[in-house]
Amino acid sequence: MDWLDKELGYIKSHKPYKRPDKVYDFHKLDSNENIVLEKRFIKAIALKSLRENDLREYPIKQFEELFKKLADYTDLSIRNIGVGSGSDQIMDLLLSTIGKGRSIITLNPTFSYFTDRCNLYKIPTKQIDLSNLDNSFDVELFIKKAKEYDIIYIASPNNPTGNQFKLDEILNIIESLKDKLIIIDEAYVEFAEYNLSNTVTKYNNVIVMRTFSKAFGLAGARIGYLLTNEELADTFNQYIQLPYPLSSFSMQLAIEVLVNIHKVKRSIQIIKKERSKIFERLNKMNQIKIFESHSNFFFIQTFDHFDKIKNSMMSEKILIKNFGNFGNYQGAMRITIGNTEVNDKIISIFEKSGN
Ligand SMILES: Cc1ncc(COP(=O)(O)O)c(C=O)c1O
Repeated sequence: MDWLDKELGYIKSHKPYKRPDKVYDFHKLDSNENIVLEKRFIKAIALKSLRENDLREYPIKQFEELFKKLADYTDLSIRNIGVGSGSDQIMDLLLSTIGKGRSIITLNPTFSYFTDRCNLYKIPTKQIDLSNLDNSFDVELFIKKAKEYDIIYIASPNNPTGNQFKLDEILNIIESLKDKLIIIDEAYVEFAEYNLSNTVTKYNNVIVMRTFSKAFGLAGARIGYLLTNEELADTFNQYIQLPYPLSSFSMQLAIEVLVNIHKVKRSIQIIKKERSKIFERLNKMNQIKIFESHSNFFFIQTFDHFDKIKNSMMSEKILIKNFGNFGNYQGAMRITIGNTEVNDKIISIFEKSGN
């Protein structure tokens, strides 16, 4: 079939998504999951969720409770919320429906799944480079350029650079581009300086994306949500999203983790403390450049020390994300913050690499 061959050929002309390699006895610090949150806590709520749900039935009653809990957590109304199977799925749906035929402007580097998905849907995408000195960008220039595009995507904090842009800069973008759709991806917001959930009631052109995969320690359960104005949230829930995008089990897990939010908050405190320690130590080193992080991972340029550090991480069984030479960054690596023991090992690998 000619048309099908052509379509498959087009799809396959893109880079396929490669899941990280499966590893067994490594410290898994390559995907920014919350490894500090106790495994037995997640196991306990998973067992409770299994006990309390009848998987023979479609998930109905869990929706209402999850929306209520999310409304409490975000201090918004249930009418401002939409849920999905991870924020990946929500982004995909938004791009393939309201994004179709539009154009997008974002930063470089940013969350690559998002720009890959734009390419798949043939959405022209412009990326403005961040400075390799401090991961900032020229906001006035960005606003000027953004006037030529329909949709703006900003990850706040940004992945892979880990920084959150200045609040007044992002507010300036929102305030200056009221006739554009602005997607703010807050996957790592629980580790950050500020969140923008209140912009969705103040402006009718903002979508804030969130996930349970990072701070909440539930990457395996695939739970994401969006916050936006009531009309867009309703359209998303009733027309765009699948009837049952989440299993009753996953929804119950999200409910349980919100009930026990103090445990999540405790792990965030630990991660932030570790973050300060790692930054302080690695920032003293001249042979590498560690960037300030407002998330649960670090972005580091290792220049000529890349191979040595990469190999030492492997021999210590620490799995990290190795970018190498990447845009304007040299020997770039992204490392999730883990528990104290592994973080100290990482610091020592870096400190030894200079000798
Ligand atoms: C900025 C950003 N947004 C979204 C996601 C995807 O989150 P989810 O697991 O909810 O699909 C990630 C995961 O790495 C991310 O870094």
